[in-house]
Amino acid sequence: MNNSKGATGALHPASAAILVTGGAGFIGSNFIRYVFNKTDFAGTIVNYDKLTYAGNLSNLADIEKKFHNTGYVFERGDIRDYAKVEELIRKYGITIIVHFAAESHVDRSIFGPKEFVETNINGTFSLLEAARQLWAERSDVRFHHISTDEVYGSLGDSGYFFENTPYDPRSPYSASKAASDHLVRAYYHTYGLPVTLSNCSNNYGPYHFPEKLIPLIILNAVEGKPLPVYGDGRNVRDWLYVEDHADAIWQILLKGRAGETYNIGGECERENIEVVNAICDILEELRPPKDNTLIRKQSPAVGRYRELITFVGDRPGHDRRYAVNCDKIKKELGWSHRHNFEEGLRHTIEWYLRNTAWIEQIKSGEYTKWIEKNYTNYKKLKNEGQG
Ligand code: NAD
Ligand code: DAU
Repeated sequence: MNNSKGATGALHPASAAILVTGGAGFIGSNFIRYVFNKTDFAGTIVNYDKLTYAGNLSNLADIEKKFHNTGYVFERGDIRDYAKVEELIRKYGITIIVHFAAESHVDRSIFGPKEFVETNINGTFSLLEAARQLWAERSDVRFHHISTDEVYGSLGDSGYFFENTPYDPRSPYSASKAASDHLVRAYYHTYGLPVTLSNCSNNYGPYHFPEKLIPLIILNAVEGKPLPVYGDGRNVRDWLYVEDHADAIWQILLKGRAGETYNIGGECERENIEVVNAICDILEELRPPKDNTLIRKQSPAVGRYRELITFVGDRPGHDRRYAVNCDKIKKELGWSHRHNFEEGLRHTIEWYLRNTAWIEQIKSGEYTKWIEKNYTNYKKLKNEGQG
């Protein structure tokens, strides 16, 4: 590293002013909730979010109510807006940036990669420039970049992703995340900007936008709609409960070393079809189809949720298997996941069954158009013999 500036100053995350980008999204909002409710945090969090289709202020309604102007502030804006970010850094005395904001859905990146390049690459660049300016003025700075295991590519039946696994992204989404990771590391090596990175596996839990597998399957099942499974359903993902991810990020802020990357994973590999079956089985118990009026209306012949499973065409370039080795964060920072999949999944399903107002609000937006477009395409791919 060529750190012309010298040593970094001590960080005090528990009392700092932290800029969280993308805090109105799924993981960002769970992170903010975790910090306020489960740590001894006494600083300020500025949630900076553009509120795209995936950003939703009601994800943080409880935090807004409890901590508004006593630690929590929302500011709307785009991470590409350098002047606005600089202004916020000065206004709130920001020293730590935790960067979640991104376009995050692989299927959307297949339809429209441009937005992914603009937000994930150009947006990260703009934020890094603002952080570099801050770093020129003080030494107690940290830029934490949230990335994904997808940058490492696709695994066969065996093996794991390690922190030094060569990058091999295969979708426009993962390629844009890989590019942003490279920029973050370049700012560490070139300018000495104190950065940390984390590459995490698939998250699930409350407030997950229902374009992603787990919440989509829950919602469709409850409404008696087809449960779309891509290809042969045997692609493997490594599932982590979102609160465990939030905890890992907090541990990295507290104890992580500048310049380091930490892999985070659930050590919980499941084929997609196993996940879908598990959701169906839990729903059998929590909302039996015979008592579900929506099922009776939409698919009266259906006796069991599993009957709704529908194999559709395969995702173009569909990565086969992800599996993350997270020994480094366990050994160095003492983190490990606390929730097992069965318990986390049940809790998640219960949350979706309870939070109908949240779901209705999302469905009234651009969501329905997206679902129509995406699954018409997968039906077409199936008819063309792919999958
Ligand atoms: P999400 O799509 O739910 O939320 C993204 C948030 O970023 C939204 O609130 C959106 O409004 C905001 N945003 C988008 N573009 C913006 C812009 N230009 N300026 C400001 N805000 C903008 O995403 P998520 O699932 O919460 O993922 C958060 C981060 O974690 C992403 O960087 C993603 O790559 C990474 N990640 C996600 C997972 C996962 O399983 N969801 C796993 C590993 C890593
Ligand atoms: O691995 C981390 C990544 O996990 C994050 O970086 C991404 O932001 C996040 O979206 C997620 O990406 P995936 O593509 O793995 O998640 P998704 O929920 O879209 O899909 C999970 C698996 O389920 C994948 O193999 C595709 C499949 N799938 C998905 C949908 C939406 C289906 O079979 N049917 C579906 O309808």
